[in-house]
Amino acid sequence: MNRVFTITMAFALAFVSCNKSDSLVVLSPSGKVSITFLINGKGQPSYSLLFDQKTIVKPSTLGFEFKDMPPLSDNIKVDSFKTRSFSEKWEMPWGDQRWVDNTYNELKVFLSERKSPYRNFAVTFRAFNDGVGFRYEFPEQPGMDSVIILAENTNFNLTDDHTCWWQPGDWDIYEHLYRTTPLCKIDAVNSQSKNPLAQTYIPENAVNTPVTMKTSDGVYLCFHEADVNNYAGATLRVDTVNLSLQTALVGNDSGVKVKAKVPFNSPWRTIIITDKPGDIVTSKLVLNLNEPNRIGDVSWFKPMKYVGIWWEMHLGKSSWDMASGKHGATTANAKRYIDFAARNGIKGLLVEGWNTGWEHWIGFEEREGIFDFVTPYPDYNLKEVVRYAKSKGVSLIMHHETSAAPRTYERQLDSAYRLMQSLGIHSVKTGYVGKIIPKGEYHQGQWMVNHYRKVIETAARYQIAVDAHEPFKGTGEWRTYPNVIARENFRGQEFNAWSVDGGNPPEHLTILPFTAQLAGPMDYTPGIFNIKLKPYKPDNQVNSTLAYQLALYVVIYSPIQMVADLPENYEGHPAFQFIRDVGVDWEQTVVLGAAIGDYIAIAREERYSGRWFIGAITDENPRDLSLKLDFLKPNVKYKATLYLDGPDAHWDKNPTSYRIETREVDSNTVIDLKLAPGGGAAISLFPF
Ligand code: NOJ
Ligand code: CA
Repeated sequence: MNRVFTITMAFALAFVSCNKSDSLVVLSPSGKVSITFLINGKGQPSYSLLFDQKTIVKPSTLGFEFKDMPPLSDNIKVDSFKTRSFSEKWEMPWGDQRWVDNTYNELKVFLSERKSPYRNFAVTFRAFNDGVGFRYEFPEQPGMDSVIILAENTNFNLTDDHTCWWQPGDWDIYEHLYRTTPLCKIDAVNSQSKNPLAQTYIPENAVNTPVTMKTSDGVYLCFHEADVNNYAGATLRVDTVNLSLQTALVGNDSGVKVKAKVPFNSPWRTIIITDKPGDIVTSKLVLNLNEPNRIGDVSWFKPMKYVGIWWEMHLGKSSWDMASGKHGATTANAKRYIDFAARNGIKGLLVEGWNTGWEHWIGFEEREGIFDFVTPYPDYNLKEVVRYAKSKGVSLIMHHETSAAPRTYERQLDSAYRLMQSLGIHSVKTGYVGKIIPKGEYHQGQWMVNHYRKVIETAARYQIAVDAHEPFKGTGEWRTYPNVIARENFRGQEFNAWSVDGGNPPEHLTILPFTAQLAGPMDYTPGIFNIKLKPYKPDNQVNSTLAYQLALYVVIYSPIQMVADLPENYEGHPAFQFIRDVGVDWEQTVVLGAAIGDYIAIAREERYSGRWFIGAITDENPRDLSLKLDFLKPNVKYKATLYLDGPDAHWDKNPTSYRIETREVDSNTVIDLKLAPGGGAAISLFPF
């Protein structure tokens, strides 16, 4: 055994102990989670994890394959290690809670090869009470100025054939339905979407992250990554025989995964580990593995609800392009939406199809140079719309559909953002529909990761917040760049308007809070009241009750929540009061009950007002829930307004049946709810 190693060990902090002669152990502050690092008999670096003293990840090796360089996998020794305890509380400028606790114990192991080329690297492990993160670090060293990574071989050897909520490891899109199967039944390649997708590539049996699992003992594991920067996104390759996962980086058609200059760090590999499903929803592990805010004050962005010239396009009532003869983004239509928003206290308006280029955006190979991000169509007076909106207290959300031609967008970034700045517009929804140009790059590869990062950083300089559709998944960068406000890394509401596979089933949103939501705020676009989409889409529908749609404003977290339906479907509707009232920026979040894929009930306290809101939804099965209101302030009376499924409500047979009740409640009250099949409940609680 290495001498330095032995001597240093004697001085190790209490939470690092020497199990066997050659292993290092770091425990989470509570002791529940334990990480063991060891060089195995083959000289390979490996780690294993315990949860409540039981193995949850078996010894799993770490390593890399490079171009023009031997792999880094064995003949490795420990040179030294460092330990550290850290604890802080940081404030989210906006968020699903105000204060975040970031407490962990860290072990950093310095490693080198025993043989030529004698490379050095380190692995840093952090043990949190709700899971672990670890990353590779390559320091400056002779003979290694840069690397081309062909594979990162980080393994996760599981203990059993866990139940998994997964979607295929598509290099181009996250808009697949989640499937629930044992690990051994994961078959990504044969899980192509039944809907034609504008871009999709599933090269092997791998899953996208976040992916969540449950063991037969009721322990949950959620795999994801944090702080992906100048690196490729990772899918997880599935070994259905040995029940293990391995990092499978997204590459490009030349086979390269990552090009990096040394020194560099890999992203954090993260696993949330918990025995309560609700703790998955409130975990801040991924955020905590990102650097603190780098862009300073973001009070220029205000969390808000917004309406949009949007759903009408997805319904086919109007269109994005002017040549269609039914252009949606006209000055008059925008003013109609602004009037509606202003009357209902809604602060934002998204206008899609405002700029030239939409005649040539989808289904064309050559999309470079088509979209123009500063030139409105002639029937849309951008300045006038902005002026009118401002006079009514409404702000615009700009729209930049790039049609997956990022270079065209990058060339215009400054001029587009300068225009927005001159008009006082502080948020933009971006889009990347189609196969990436240049050909051979993919939405989740390093080239695109760098593009998305450039957009975020440039936008921040112009005080612009970004809501990215067809994005790279969130990896907690919204801590560092709190101008990253939302994204669409999942199958959104739009699929209900046009998909050919029957739309999003009721269980969809009972899975997303435990999977996609871990990647950050979700722009799902809830609130459809005209569930059967008549007269526009007689063959499509939303697969939920109306009360379920209301509940989504609480179940889903995003600092921007769309009020997605057509204004005419809300006018005069008593249940619209809930959407008017519901908050978008939260002091705290409490999960009242959950079973992944079956149901979830969440309560959130609005910042500054002391008001609480509850959202509960169920899958296709009816469900009775008893909700204890013991999270309310003691000795305070609240007026509760309950928006409930009608007695005969059903997501398909009678989706718009609902009723509204009011009651006086306090922290001793228990509310009994009856959720219809595909139903839900939304409750507002206002202190008297
Ligand atoms: C896909 C987005 O998800 C959707 O919201 C948008 O309307 C279209 N692209 C057009 O940009
Ligand atoms: Ca279910």
